Amino acid sequence: MAKATTTPLDEIPVARRLTPSVRQQQQPSPLTLLVLLASAMVAGMVVFLRSTQHMPTGLDPLTELMPPPEADGRLLRHFAYPMAHETDLVEVVTGYRLHGDAAAAFLAMQKDAADDGVQLSLLSAFRDRETQHDLFFSVMVERGQRPAERAKVSAPPGYSEHHTGYALDVGDARRPELDLEEAFDQSAAFAWLQQHAARYHFRLSFPADNPQGVAYEPWHWRWEGSSHALELFEQAHRLNTPS
Ligand code: DAL
Ligand code: ZN
Repeated sequence: MAKATTTPLDEIPVARRLTPSVRQQQQPSPLTLLVLLASAMVAGMVVFLRSTQHMPTGLDPLTELMPPPEADGRLLRHFAYPMAHETDLVEVVTGYRLHGDAAAAFLAMQKDAADDGVQLSLLSAFRDRETQHDLFFSVMVERGQRPAERAKVSAPPGYSEHHTGYALDVGDARRPELDLEEAFDQSAAFAWLQQHAARYHFRLSFPADNPQGVAYEPWHWRWEGSSHALELFEQAHRLNTPS
């Protein structure tokens, strides 16, 4: 009987026992490598985006441009203000919220102004830190400004009177072209406010040439009709009111 010609496996050197095709299957193909690389990149991107969403303010590259606060706690001339409690805020008109006390005072003032033939409009009210952040930095970047220049007309996030729920921007509904313009001080609404706003405990925050060094804002008024509000604005009041 003819002897079998097959070679017992044990006689083949270990390094040569596998056929080339079997060896090729064990190595990842270029396509597999590509898929793995792409997956790793996507995973990395997701981790990065998640980390930026929860990034502390100190790591925000725009916030990093800000100088440190001054000795009296102000940042670029603006005092720091706490955020109003959600439960204290009420909607005055759709999309605009104020502290309940300031809201009641504004509505009473608006009604009395209307009785005198003057239409007061509400242009801005409570703003949270994120809104102020966007307002401050987006315009700064758009205009190619430095923070100090931007801060002449806008408070940095955390430093706006609007955070308290007691500050509001007022317009003359009959003269919308004057909204948030210095020339608002030529409107009937401004004349009425100058004469009557104090009766409702509203005060102009940034009169012309105010010692605080913030640009003239005839439209921006704050309510000081409670001990809480007075306390919040005490520093600003002291700095801006000649003794
Ligand atoms: N425009 C005022 C200063 C603010 O941003 O609070
Ligand atoms: Zn304002």
